[in-house]
Amino acid sequence: MSKNLFVKNIAQLVTCSGREAKRGAEAMNDIGLIEGPAAVVIREGKIAYAGLMDGVDPELTKGCDVYDAAGCCVLPGFVDSHTHLVFGGFREDEFQWRLRGDSYMSIMERGGGINNTMKATRGESKEQLKESARAHLDAMLAQGVTTVEAKSGYGMELEAELKQLEVVAELQQEHPMTIFPTYMGAHSTPPEYAGREDEFIDYLNREVLPAVMKQGIARCCDIFTEKGVFDHAQTRRYLAAAKEAGLKLKMHADEIVSFAGAELAAELGCLSADHLLQISDKGIEALANSQTVATLLPATAFSLKEPFAPGRKMIDNGCAVALASDLNPGSCFSCSMPLLIALATIYMNMTVEEAITALTINGAAALGLADQTGSIDEGKPGDLCIIRYPSYKFLSYHFAMNLVRATVKDGHVYAWPRTEL
Ligand code: NIG
Ligand code: FE
Repeated sequence: MSKNLFVKNIAQLVTCSGREAKRGAEAMNDIGLIEGPAAVVIREGKIAYAGLMDGVDPELTKGCDVYDAAGCCVLPGFVDSHTHLVFGGFREDEFQWRLRGDSYMSIMERGGGINNTMKATRGESKEQLKESARAHLDAMLAQGVTTVEAKSGYGMELEAELKQLEVVAELQQEHPMTIFPTYMGAHSTPPEYAGREDEFIDYLNREVLPAVMKQGIARCCDIFTEKGVFDHAQTRRYLAAAKEAGLKLKMHADEIVSFAGAELAAELGCLSADHLLQISDKGIEALANSQTVATLLPATAFSLKEPFAPGRKMIDNGCAVALASDLNPGSCFSCSMPLLIALATIYMNMTVEEAITALTINGAAALGLADQTGSIDEGKPGDLCIIRYPSYKFLSYHFAMNLVRATVKDGHVYAWPRTEL
């Protein structure tokens, strides 16, 4: 199903135009701004025109539904390039323990954390997992998100990893959201392999990866590279197999301690290195000199009460920075775009323009999709985020509020009732 749509009278059009990651401050501050009245024409679900109202060819708008965006700023749909969308159960007690001083790693070492969610995920049916993931997708769409990455990693054995990825594949058929599936067997070591991390990696490479590839239900592979979780040698072995099998690579890197994860991600040609709270200067240099996107997840740092990743320094040193939610039931039970923008602009000293670039074209680049989505450019999907205010600057100024009036996905309009001013 595709749609023809004429979005007219746009007060301000933020295109984020481009087909590759934007690196460094100058590029990231260039959001391809067009002061209105502007228009976007979508034909058969794809952008056919983006520019001034005066330049619209009347022929092009024939047969289009019309959306009047008077007084609104229009941006590309957001790309949330790091989520753990599919999971069973919750960890509300752990969150309270952390608020009282327990650390994330100490809870994990006691058998809680990721392995807690693993037990719940293994125990739930596909239908149960799908229902909760679908609710999160709905919440994301209502915040202007049109592309989401979704990781497995709460199965950590053949059947349950496949179950999570099958849920993603089925949701892709049932939900308008574009979902990018990532296989993350190496998220933690399950109890049956406790203390035998190398054997667990062997098992994943021998049995789980081939089954994932056989079903064709993942495009990328991710690992939690961290002191006490998986080391560099294990990361290399696991990601080499994934690359050989045809998957793109990602890494959870330098989240809890400085572990030279960013350097390894750059060396291995990962699409992105994610978290980076503890990245070193060498790590920043390595990312700046690579094609690897630095994906920052400030809502996780916020929720763990850890210092934010040095986003300003990374951008000033030439990195391509993306922002993503990291939605998961442990370290960050939130997929809030408004919170991300608030944290990035108020606490990480990113400009609102950089935050927008980080959530659009750079998010797409973190999925290897910068030439396919993440900006309002001819030929890309008709994915738009329409906010209730005339300037994109309200996204940080009117902080932590959902300003999205409508989300356009492949030319279909999802109009949201006003719940916030
Ligand atoms: O990105 N750090 C590893 N993985 C997730 C957390 C998953 C969990 O705690 O359930 C993260 O923060
Ligand atoms: Fe994560």
